[in-house]
Amino acid sequence: MKWSRTLIPTMKETPEGAEIPSHILMLRAGLLTQVMAGAYTYLPLGLRSLHKAINIVRTEMNATGAVELFMTALCPTSLYEQTNRVEAFGDVLIKTVLPRAGKKVPVVFCPTHEEEITDLVSRFVSSYRQLPITLYQIQTKFRNEERPKFGLLRTSEFLMKDAYSFHTNIESLNQTYDEMYKAYCRIFQRCGLDYLPVEAESGPIGGDASHEFMIPSVNGEDNVVCCDKCRYAANTEKAEIGGTGPQEAPDDVVRKEKAMLDTPETHTIEQVCKFLKAKPNKVVKTLIYLADSHPVAVLVRGDHDVNENKLRRLLKAEHVELADEATISKVTGAPVGFAGPVGLAQGTKIVADYSVRGMVNMIVGANEADKHFVNVNLHRDFEVDEYADVRNAVASDPCPHCMTSMTIRNAIEVGHVFKLGTKYTQALNARFLDTDESQKTIIMGCYGIGVSRIVAGMVETSYDDHGIIWPVALAPYEVNICPIKVTDEQSMQVAEKLHDELTARGIDVILDDRDQRAGVKFKDSDLIGFPLRVTIGTKGLEENKVEIKWRWSADSEMLSIGDAAETIAKAIESERVSGERFTASRSTKK
Ligand SMILES: Nc1ncnc2c1ncn2[C@@H]1O[C@H](COP(=O)(O)OP(=O)(O)O)[C@@H](O)[C@H]1O
Ligand SMILES: [Mg+2]
Ligand SMILES: [Zn+2]
Repeated sequence: MKWSRTLIPTMKETPEGAEIPSHILMLRAGLLTQVMAGAYTYLPLGLRSLHKAINIVRTEMNATGAVELFMTALCPTSLYEQTNRVEAFGDVLIKTVLPRAGKKVPVVFCPTHEEEITDLVSRFVSSYRQLPITLYQIQTKFRNEERPKFGLLRTSEFLMKDAYSFHTNIESLNQTYDEMYKAYCRIFQRCGLDYLPVEAESGPIGGDASHEFMIPSVNGEDNVVCCDKCRYAANTEKAEIGGTGPQEAPDDVVRKEKAMLDTPETHTIEQVCKFLKAKPNKVVKTLIYLADSHPVAVLVRGDHDVNENKLRRLLKAEHVELADEATISKVTGAPVGFAGPVGLAQGTKIVADYSVRGMVNMIVGANEADKHFVNVNLHRDFEVDEYADVRNAVASDPCPHCMTSMTIRNAIEVGHVFKLGTKYTQALNARFLDTDESQKTIIMGCYGIGVSRIVAGMVETSYDDHGIIWPVALAPYEVNICPIKVTDEQSMQVAEKLHDELTARGIDVILDDRDQRAGVKFKDSDLIGFPLRVTIGTKGLEENKVEIKWRWSADSEMLSIGDAAETIAKAIESERVSGERFTASRSTKK
């Protein structure tokens, strides 16, 4: 490909509204252009990288025995009503109405395809003989992001690989899940991503039923909790905390006299702390929850957050949710914002996080409008019914496996594997005839990869002051041939010959045939981040040599024109498979 024959609108300035590196660099390098907030067109270079990611994903999916199909982007809203997901998705679901022969047909732009695939399977699969089967597609998903930000990391339309597996029993689901997990590791490794599989909240099946694949990155929207010693890693919704927290403070610690103070307009912990000049870890937050419609008071330290999944499991409830205003005033006798553990309605169960147990002289809501108690103490002023781990982990909490203090990192979720169980197959009546002639509900797993996020996630974690640094695996072109003087006939002859020879060997080459200063061409080459630049200068040509330079390396090397094509092709082919040079350059930078 000649540079002048394609469309590469590079930019010098940071585009307006772009804040994070991947967003800025992908726009500046001419890979993408914004159509509206949250929606981007892939320009030729961006599309080439996307296609590389698609190819890797597809190859590895096929290798697991999964079979590809292609579902519709539009789907009747009625399917989503059968699974109650019109409500669950809320404004994220993009809906419209199609005029059809005088009638109005409500449809949605699919945000995912569990409904459509399960409906399809319920129509075509009826016997154990047809199971297990894994079906996948690579397709655009639509999710209205109210405040789309972060460029390609979170958009309203994005490319996803979504796979769904169907089984007659859990053992079969477990086997496919493990194969998918391994395939995901191979995919992200082949892409050159520095990824981390983490335990995620698993929902109905419980146990080890969900993992997310994360790329640690300062601009990631998710948080992962990691133990650097034993490699335990989980997202914050799931992360467990080791041990059972502090014991009660010894008897000789002074318990001061409880007092009620006026604290007008202090509805939040922040406001209370400011008003009373106290640190949040001296305050106890009291939250009234409804666990399957029974009110429960949950106490956590002011600097902690309740983890509703942990609470749900502890209470063995189907649903837990924050109580409504009416329930709160019934239980506390006060308006929202002033709940406390002293004097709650009789029979209200009090659950406290382990960390509350070691506290003395606490600040708590007084169950009275605009009032708080100070110097509240256990036993003397209230009793806790049960202590448990009911909060989100925070930095330096102990690891559940080895008690080492854990760290919290920001991360980008690129993939998610999930044992769904029968949630969708039950709702959509996908059943099979088992060996014993009985009808049973099909068991299901689902496996998603944000293919466009692979590309953005790579850029977000691989760049320097000059621009993007692509691994060969995802680069829009693997080699950029850069003749310094395009008006020099010999330079162009050598450049074109090398271009043709490399192309014939299956290498992705671009030839920068623009009549521009060398400085401009090198800047663009570094900004876009082609892994290998071949410079053809008149000086080198006098000695029959061309110069090669890897994007991530400061050094260059001279090759004689005679073996240039062979040497370059070999280097690219091996780097394509191993990514060794790229990975090594990253680990030296860290
Ligand atoms: N708005 C988005 N923009 C780009 N990629 C996304 C977006 N939402 C999800 N993805 C990608 O699709 C994968 C599977 O989606 P899913 O797990 O259903 O998403 P979520 O965790 O956001 O609910 C995610 O791991 C992520 O890589
Ligand atoms: Mg997810
Ligand atoms: Zn550990």
